[in-house]
Amino acid sequence: MRIVLVGPPGAGKGTQAAFLAKNLAIPHIATGDLFRANISQGTPLGQKAQEYMRAGQLVPDEVTIGMAKSRMEEPDAAAGFLLDGFPRNIAQAQALDGYLDETGQKLDAVLDLEVPEDEVVKRIAGRRICRNDSSHVFHVEYSPAKREGVCDVCGGELYQREDDREETVRKRLEVYHSETEPIIDHYKAQGLVTTISALGAVSEVTERAMRALSAE
Ligand code: AP5
Ligand code: ZN
Repeated sequence: MRIVLVGPPGAGKGTQAAFLAKNLAIPHIATGDLFRANISQGTPLGQKAQEYMRAGQLVPDEVTIGMAKSRMEEPDAAAGFLLDGFPRNIAQAQALDGYLDETGQKLDAVLDLEVPEDEVVKRIAGRRICRNDSSHVFHVEYSPAKREGVCDVCGGELYQREDDREETVRKRLEVYHSETEPIIDHYKAQGLVTTISALGAVSEVTERAMRALSAE
């Protein structure tokens, strides 16, 4: 299956993607995680992305689209993938459409996670991620690590993302509304969108998502 996950910052895309990708046996491709891995490795791509991420702005399309395409070309993505955080504006959605056309692939579903803004703010404020792998995600209150400050998955140190500061979160939400939300209509026109509530326990949201995907 080829799936795109959309939703505001802090909606729980990364959290859900981890379970969905495992259930569906497809790779979880998150452009935010790819950028953070490049930043911690000090690559030129990471250096370029970091200034935009710090400011809560989108990394330029020419950097992002190339990176996403090369990840989709890896062998593990041949039979399907779950995209999280990409596409994030109309130009990226059009680039993805073009890439899938050229390579004889098509999207099966776009899952839109809906969550009120006050909940998003609480989720982001308490989020802690792992130094070794930013897809290892916890929340101080809602999904605490077994040992405070230590990743359950790999034992790495947990910390608060630099772009999770209140000022930057406000900017990211603004960018989500102006740049990213329009892709929902883009995909509605292709009959691909299912909107589900992302409120409730993580497992409840996963069940809702799995039901929505099996209806595809
Ligand atoms: P990215 O890393 O993609 O961030 P985002 O879209 O802002 O999404 P988040 O990671 O903040 O949230 P999430 O929805 O994954 O929530 P999570 O599961 O962690 O992007 C970061 C930056 O990179 C961008 O600002 C941009 O600069 C750049 N970038 C990335 N992609 C790009 C692109 N395509 N183009 C250009 N630039 C790009 O959950 C949040 C918290 O809530 C966690 O603590 C979690 O434990 C908790 N939680 C989750 N579900 C529940 C639940 N059901 N109940 C209670 N708590 C929950
Ligand atoms: Zn970890």
